[in-house]
Amino acid sequence: MKIISVVGARPNFMKIAPFIRAIKDFNSRQTVPHGPAIGSQEELIEHILVHTGQHYDDRMSKAFFKALNIPEADINLGVGSGSHAEQVGQTMMAFEKVLEKEKPDWVVVVGDVNATLACSVTAKKQLVKVCHIEAGLRSRDMAMPEEINRLVTDRLSDLLLTPDTLSSENLRDEGTPDNNIVFVGNIMIDTLEANRRKAERISMESILKNNLLLQKQFIHPGEDKDYALITLHRPSNVDHPDVLTPLINFLLDEVTPDMPLIWPIHPRTEKRLKTFGIWDRIVENPGVILLHPIGYHEMLRLNMHARIILTDSGGLQEESTVLGTPCLTLRWNTERPITLREHGGASVLVGNNVDRIRKEYHHTLRINRKPQRPELWDGRTAMRCVEAIVNYDPAGSERKDNQI
Ligand code: UD1
Repeated sequence: MKIISVVGARPNFMKIAPFIRAIKDFNSRQTVPHGPAIGSQEELIEHILVHTGQHYDDRMSKAFFKALNIPEADINLGVGSGSHAEQVGQTMMAFEKVLEKEKPDWVVVVGDVNATLACSVTAKKQLVKVCHIEAGLRSRDMAMPEEINRLVTDRLSDLLLTPDTLSSENLRDEGTPDNNIVFVGNIMIDTLEANRRKAERISMESILKNNLLLQKQFIHPGEDKDYALITLHRPSNVDHPDVLTPLINFLLDEVTPDMPLIWPIHPRTEKRLKTFGIWDRIVENPGVILLHPIGYHEMLRLNMHARIILTDSGGLQEESTVLGTPCLTLRWNTERPITLREHGGASVLVGNNVDRIRKEYHHTLRINRKPQRPELWDGRTAMRCVEAIVNYDPAGSERKDNQI
């Protein structure tokens, strides 16, 4: 069986790393060193990794391959930055050639970035089966590019591997046949579990030494529960000055007097802050510690020991839930409701309205860490993904389709 798996942007890398390892494990279980295989020997999986090149900076891409031991991509489509139509269009054109040459049995896509959409559409048009890891998440916010990517990818996928039962329900409600849905758990938590001990050993000093964005005066954060951590990159938060400016005022005037604020900054956000003329005020504030985009282990370490995290990232919401870090999610909706306090998680939706953020910020500071582990977020999801692909039964889904 030949599988092409696809990555494009930073949040894909921690999802593909355990999947590639699980394929290796699967293959090693099929090969018996001496003599014939015991029992029924299934065929080996031939795997090709394609990187679309959407994220290309070393700190956004290469560093993650290295830290997570991901083998270098077999093929890089070199798509780079651009409008969404440019990214998707160029990915489709380049990926079509890859499919024509390689003729895989499956294309495996993860998450909800432009690479996920572009490669699932291209594969389906070439009559190649598509498997989507992290299927069924829904924010129901069509202004969010990722929601469009999720809807199209899930509609086209033959095999939909879900991280939680709420996502499986979403798919059933949309009419996806039961046989095509397999609840496997959250593959990102495989990466978290495999790396948390290494992350725990990193000191604050080394994070600062290796990642400071610029030389400036700053208040040194302590090792544990002595700092806030923020990440921001969603267009809805960073692309409009009337949204971004009050948010920054709140951080500078009301958070930094309480504790230092560590901010690994996304390239898009840095550009916007400069364009809107807010950058200098941030740089001048000694309570803000600006970092380059940081590595996987360093972010995990900062998350583990933050007193509070403010973020618009989906992945950080999930990691905070498992680590128990109180999390203010700077969005009005989430495709990951399992991470919310009402479902047992560590996060609360605060949107980008400062009054609401302020209220929840003060409430959240009084909350203690409460790590939670949703069902099957057990570090063994990747193995279940490989098994689901190998055991895929198209006849079963056809039968089911016929019944509807
Ligand atoms: C993408 C994903 C988003 C994910 C995020 C994580 C889509 C639709 N969005 O958003 O779901 O949460 O990645 O980071 O796929 N840039 C660089 N260097 C890079 C990459 C980007 O400088 O290596 C800059 C460019 O100016 C670019 C901008 O960042 O225009 C935005 O990058 P892009 O890949 O278009 O989207 P993200 O905002 O990163």
